[in-house]
Amino acid sequence: MKRKDYTQALTLGFFTGWYDSIVNLMGFGKRYYAKAADYIQPGDRDSILDVGTGTANLAIAIRQKYPRVKVTGIDPDKEILEIAKKKIKKEKFDIELINTPAQKLPFPSESFDFVVSSLAIHHIPKSFKKESFSEMKRVLKRNGVILIVDFGIPKNFFADIISFILSLLEDVGPNRKGLIPNALNDLGFKDIKEVGNKFGLISFYKARK
Ligand SMILES: C[S@@+](CC[C@H](N)C(=O)[O-])C[C@H]1O[C@@H](n2cnc3c(N)ncnc32)[C@H](O)[C@@H]1O
Repeated sequence: MKRKDYTQALTLGFFTGWYDSIVNLMGFGKRYYAKAADYIQPGDRDSILDVGTGTANLAIAIRQKYPRVKVTGIDPDKEILEIAKKKIKKEKFDIELINTPAQKLPFPSESFDFVVSSLAIHHIPKSFKKESFSEMKRVLKRNGVILIVDFGIPKNFFADIISFILSLLEDVGPNRKGLIPNALNDLGFKDIKEVGNKFGLISFYKARK
């Protein structure tokens, strides 16, 4: 995988080993991932794709809440997938991990009942964002549900300041201007809703193909 295909978690690769501890301290611990998992209601044996799965926190939360679903996580960063693999092996979860970026999903069209993603859209390089949204739509089944959790349009003064500062370090700028709901709308997704929010900073967007 070429480094320009993706930006590593926490931007600088040398923090990858501490990713879970750092995001936990920032308020993105088990409760956050469990909350994200609450926003999908899969049936038994439904298939779920986690885009930019990282250390597989959301994939694991989904598998814990819905033990009969089939979960696949993709990420272009081999190093972070190694951490995910160890966690999955330790807990004996059945989650498939594939090393690939969102802009090149190696699945046939209409493969998944749900596509989910947490804190990954702002890591996808600008030049691949549009392609990545199209790919996520392509692999979703008809009427399938997409849940994207990431920086949204800031809802209060503090969220505005924090997301502005982060936009100087990571590609949060487009998210602040409504990238996610606009991209879903441009692709013809239906029932686009912001179903949840954290700190007025992180938006939970849900829509149907
Ligand atoms: C902040 S981490 C989020 C990880 C995980 N989803 C979570 O919520 O803990 C961002 C992730 O996006 C991944 N990423 C970066 N560019 C990507 C791309 N082009 N396609 C898919 N994932 C990408 C990174 O490798 C990283 O694992």
